[in-house]
Amino acid sequence: MDDMNSNSHKEELVIDKQYKLQERSKAIEIIKRGMDLAREEIHKGKVATYIPELGKVDPHQLGIVINPIRGEKISMGDYDVRFTMQSVCKVIMLIVALELCGRKEVFSKVGMEPSGEAFDSLVELDVSNSKPYNPLINSGGLALCGLLLPELSFQDILRFTRNICSDPEIVLDEVVYQSEMKTCSRNRSIAFLLQSKGILKKDVEDTLRFYTKMCSMSATADALSNLGVILANDGVCGETGKRFMSSRTARIAKTLMLTCGMYNGSGTFAIKVGIPTKSGVGGGLLSVSDKRAGIGVFGPALDTQGNSIAGCKLLREISNDLRLNLFYDPEWNRETEDENDVLKTIRAAHAI
Ligand code: DON
Repeated sequence: MDDMNSNSHKEELVIDKQYKLQERSKAIEIIKRGMDLAREEIHKGKVATYIPELGKVDPHQLGIVINPIRGEKISMGDYDVRFTMQSVCKVIMLIVALELCGRKEVFSKVGMEPSGEAFDSLVELDVSNSKPYNPLINSGGLALCGLLLPELSFQDILRFTRNICSDPEIVLDEVVYQSEMKTCSRNRSIAFLLQSKGILKKDVEDTLRFYTKMCSMSATADALSNLGVILANDGVCGETGKRFMSSRTARIAKTLMLTCGMYNGSGTFAIKVGIPTKSGVGGGLLSVSDKRAGIGVFGPALDTQGNSIAGCKLLREISNDLRLNLFYDPEWNRETEDENDVLKTIRAAHAI
């Protein structure tokens, strides 16, 4: 009998032999343990205050949804609490821009390199012939908005977001939107710089409103996991068979999430967690374990780079044990690993 149908594999969230996730009951244990460890980190973080309304959010919340391509979701903690997407929506902007305008046009406006700078940096824009490093930082998102306007309205994006997230309750959080519009001088400066360089051809205020509305769409960890699983499945909804984007678009989005999704923390995150992820200052994390699962996390206390402090810790804790890491290694054991021991073993093996 085929392995996939045998009883011994019934409990596993099986994709195929290569991309086998952990058994469900064991997965639940691993996530619970990860949640406990992640909660201990919350006090080290702070909710974003540069958007005053976000400063009112309870920092102690934490929730996660693991949404495997095959098998049942696992949801824990504050997985259905609404928060604003903030920069997570840049993945949606990118998907829509690639589908609407094509790769060539998109990458004529933005680069595909990690910035090594803060998400709201404008340093690269002060150099002649430069464009935003990548589409997942504020300058890149604003440049994409210039491409999307006026072809699409905010309502079009909202409709697409509700569909791809399988969440008809996603709305514009008017209070957060107004709050950010009052304090977005840096984004306004970025937009003017983009305009001065000829990257942004549309009206600065229209572009800012469009961008900020997208950032203020309210989602849940569950909604993000639904978007994530479509990306994991190369752009197709596994349940309905509906294609939301080309597999090339999905691949570009996932690659940029891995290299640029966590801003100047992207390299460290890739090494420690190994799951393409996009963060937002609302506390959301959208993660994609390719061919395996979509993951949504919510934890509003942020680290100094603007990424969810407990969310990152949680993903780090579960990544290898749940076999979500892009570079999953069954031999890897972080707890017992001591770099000196490894080096000693290697040196001994090679007589050095
Ligand atoms: O443009 C901003 O500053 C926010 N609307 C979004 C920034 C953000 O989420 C950065 N993420 N970690």
